[in-house]
Amino acid sequence: MRAGCLVYVFLRLLILDVSAHVARASPHTGLSFEALTRSNLGGSPGAYNIERYRQDFADIYFPAMALTGRPYGEPWCKDGISVRNLSFAISPQAGCDVWGRQKEQPCLVSVSLSFRSSYTSAARKDTLDESTMHYGILAKRLRAIKPSNDWQSIDQLADAVSQTILDTPPGSGLVKACQIEVHLPKASMLGDGVTFIRSTSFDNVASAAARRMLHLQNVRIPTLIGVNAHERTRKQPLIVSLWIDGLQYGTSETYPELETELVDIIEPTAFETLESLAVHTVDQLYERILKRKLSDASIRLRFEKPQAIIFADAPAIEIYRTAEELASEAQDQRETPITAGLQIIKPYAT
Ligand SMILES: *[C@@H]1O[C@H](CO)[C@@H](O)[C@H](O)[C@H]1NC(C)=O
Repeated sequence: MRAGCLVYVFLRLLILDVSAHVARASPHTGLSFEALTRSNLGGSPGAYNIERYRQDFADIYFPAMALTGRPYGEPWCKDGISVRNLSFAISPQAGCDVWGRQKEQPCLVSVSLSFRSSYTSAARKDTLDESTMHYGILAKRLRAIKPSNDWQSIDQLADAVSQTILDTPPGSGLVKACQIEVHLPKASMLGDGVTFIRSTSFDNVASAAARRMLHLQNVRIPTLIGVNAHERTRKQPLIVSLWIDGLQYGTSETYPELETELVDIIEPTAFETLESLAVHTVDQLYERILKRKLSDASIRLRFEKPQAIIFADAPAIEIYRTAEELASEAQDQRETPITAGLQIIKPYAT
């Protein structure tokens, strides 16, 4: 995996704030993921029990945690099944293309189901029973989903996928939670595609709470960046990945606008450090689009600079801000604005 070879340069202030993320998702404990993991490992008296931990974190120990900082190799379910990148028999015509048009495009769906109990009985008898779901049947049913309209939003498509999962025996009696990913490989102009991720817990079907996220993968943007003299002479590519978490229903088609803004913000800058650029980008994205259209969303950005360290794929920095932090930083910034694209004349090192 390419990601495994990356050198991550986490700035103290910009460090990916997993703990804030998880603490928010855990009304029961308010403890950070790390603290919980540590107490589990330590096994001290009254330590948080792993089962209890799994219940409390049912809605976040999905593969999506791989996007939000779940420790490598951590299980995403007790027992479960998944189907990755399934194509539909009839194209569902969901989502917008790079120009924001409601056009047909390739669309792949992945589902991961986490079960209420272990599939021990299926394993004992070596046959498929009520303790698991037949992934072949599930895949067939998902592939057969018929488009409801000429065009539908990604949210509507995810609804249909979710309903199909619940309608596939043994249904909600078995499935505790699911994660649905809709991947649109052609929906990004300069990147590797757009993925919509929806995590739902069926514990309380009435209020089946869903968490929605957009991921813009590896958007390649040339810009002037770096402290070395040679870096001041030409633009170099940055590989930018963006995650927007906590989307409201009906806001998923914002990705063409998000990518356009991302490029418009980053391309004309001339910062010396990725860290300044990261903070600038987050501030600008908030001002230009999040504040207006995605005010409950948190943001995670990764910047990779492939030309900076010749014997590594790339160094990278990351920044993560919750919706509350975005709002309060915007307030601070109104008081002391930073100058965008500041061109400082310095004797650069050669
Ligand atoms: C689906 O395919 C895309 C493109 O190859 C890939 O980036 C993505 O990780 C795949 N999704 C899953 C869930 O494996």
